[in-house]
Amino acid sequence: MNDTAAAANTPVKSMEEIVALCKRRGFVYPASEIYGGINGFWDYGPLGAQLKNNIRDHWWKRLVECPPLGPDGEPLQIVGLDSAIIQNPSTWVASGHVGGFNDPMQTCRQCKKLFRADHVGEMLAESEWMASLCEALGAATPEDSVLFDTVEPKISDWARKKGKKVAPGLALVRHTAATLAAVRAELGAAGTSPAVGLRGLVKLLASEQRLPDGPQLPCPNCGGDLTEPRQFNLMFESYVGAVKDDASKVYLRPETAQGIFLNYRNVLDTTRVKVPFGIAQVGKAFRNEVTPRNFVFRSREFEQMELEWFCRPDEAAQWYDFWKHERMQWWLSLGIDPANLRLREHEADELAHYSKMCVDIEYRYPFSAPGFGELEGIAHRGCYDLSRHQEHAKQRMEYFDPDRNERYVPSVIEPASGLTRGTLVLICEAFTPTPDRAGTKYLLKFKPRFAPIKAGIFPLIAKEGMPEVAQRLYMDLREQFTCQFDVKQSIGKRYARMDEVGTPYCFTIDGQTLVDQTVTVRERDTAAQQRLGIDAVKAFLHERLDA
Ligand code: GAP
Repeated sequence: MNDTAAAANTPVKSMEEIVALCKRRGFVYPASEIYGGINGFWDYGPLGAQLKNNIRDHWWKRLVECPPLGPDGEPLQIVGLDSAIIQNPSTWVASGHVGGFNDPMQTCRQCKKLFRADHVGEMLAESEWMASLCEALGAATPEDSVLFDTVEPKISDWARKKGKKVAPGLALVRHTAATLAAVRAELGAAGTSPAVGLRGLVKLLASEQRLPDGPQLPCPNCGGDLTEPRQFNLMFESYVGAVKDDASKVYLRPETAQGIFLNYRNVLDTTRVKVPFGIAQVGKAFRNEVTPRNFVFRSREFEQMELEWFCRPDEAAQWYDFWKHERMQWWLSLGIDPANLRLREHEADELAHYSKMCVDIEYRYPFSAPGFGELEGIAHRGCYDLSRHQEHAKQRMEYFDPDRNERYVPSVIEPASGLTRGTLVLICEAFTPTPDRAGTKYLLKFKPRFAPIKAGIFPLIAKEGMPEVAQRLYMDLREQFTCQFDVKQSIGKRYARMDEVGTPYCFTIDGQTLVDQTVTVRERDTAAQQRLGIDAVKAFLHERLDA
């Protein structure tokens, strides 16, 4: 099934509704909200923090505590690490980040907003003023073609009215007659102009000055002219100690990976691992992204889960294939629909400076559908990093292989994923509109073991001894499961609240409990209810949460 056909079977999920639900139910809040927020930074609320920890713990469990079996059926050797966020700045010179961790950036000459050059086209397609122009010209999308002869009067009308409000920076809006005359000259005399794509036409309606490579896309915010792209380093800088000068300058790590390479020797010298082995790390990373966007997908502070797998250079290609498969299986174990995940090999011109081969595990996010966006990258880094640190730090990074009696710098396969991005994926995947269910507009259908709250424990009414029995059950369960005890409001409202935060099971103590020691179990996804002995609740939960 191709992407579009698969997407046709999937109900469309609205990112606005997901963001609103995340805020309303305490998953994700804008950072510093009381001061108006800060672009690119997010806080994880009580349920978001718990969900994120559940994903992190599962990753750590499956890689470090109970690593997968290798191709020979033996468990892999993987150890954990928690390195400092700030390291000696030479680290980032050696890794290539000081010289090469750049994004091309453009500034709008009119509204002064900054954009990542490679995001402008996409942002323009989603912009308010492009939608308004499409509507005025009767085009469904910016990809549609129009005949300039036919649409010229409509363009002129739009520029004099709606365009003034939504695209005040656009050359067409600021100098309507002159710009239309220039476009006419470009396209040929009236009656002869060919059909042009709206996106191409917009370039002509925008640029007052021609750049050497022709007309440019305008500003997605106001339509103004953008400067030529210039390189912008993404690392956040700070200073260590009391004096702020070049000698005290440090960087917040843009990836957790380098902390692993810096400790490769320490791990070899202080543990019993032998090549092939892995070092895994989870932690914060910081990138001063030019255009943070799509909720937490691209933020300026985020968390990564990275594994560096050190292996013999002549076995690296097999390990690359092994990790591709292994990591895909891991994401599937989180309950993600296989139709929403895919592997995409990078083209040669997409490869990062250190990478020999790279494949992305991609997810169909609501904002990318029917297309996909990156979730994890699995890169064959060769011996790039260890060799660079060997050269810059003047420390030997070679490994002596006792089985083969030879020395080499190991190659590295790196499965690098986003923990905060993974949290977004689970929320998007779980989000399910429920137009037919009374009292609940949405469900979060988390796979039970990842749900932030595993069970709701409710007395049907707050009298006749029911709260006491419910409290006893809650006290019995809380050490093993995250549970919520709630006596307030009607039972329907309590169920609805649990549905919205993705709690898979609710146990209700009612009149019959007092007679026969059974409780009602209500399942989130179906709202179906059954009775179960109160003594069997723990085993019931264990069985379902281990799945
Ligand atoms: N050490 C290799 C490395 O950092 P990357 O592809 O730049 O590779 C790995 O990052 C993962 O980190 C990405 O697949 C993504 O999930 C996450 N990530 C990267 N930049 C991010 C950002 N600005 N916001 C949220 N997650 C990000």
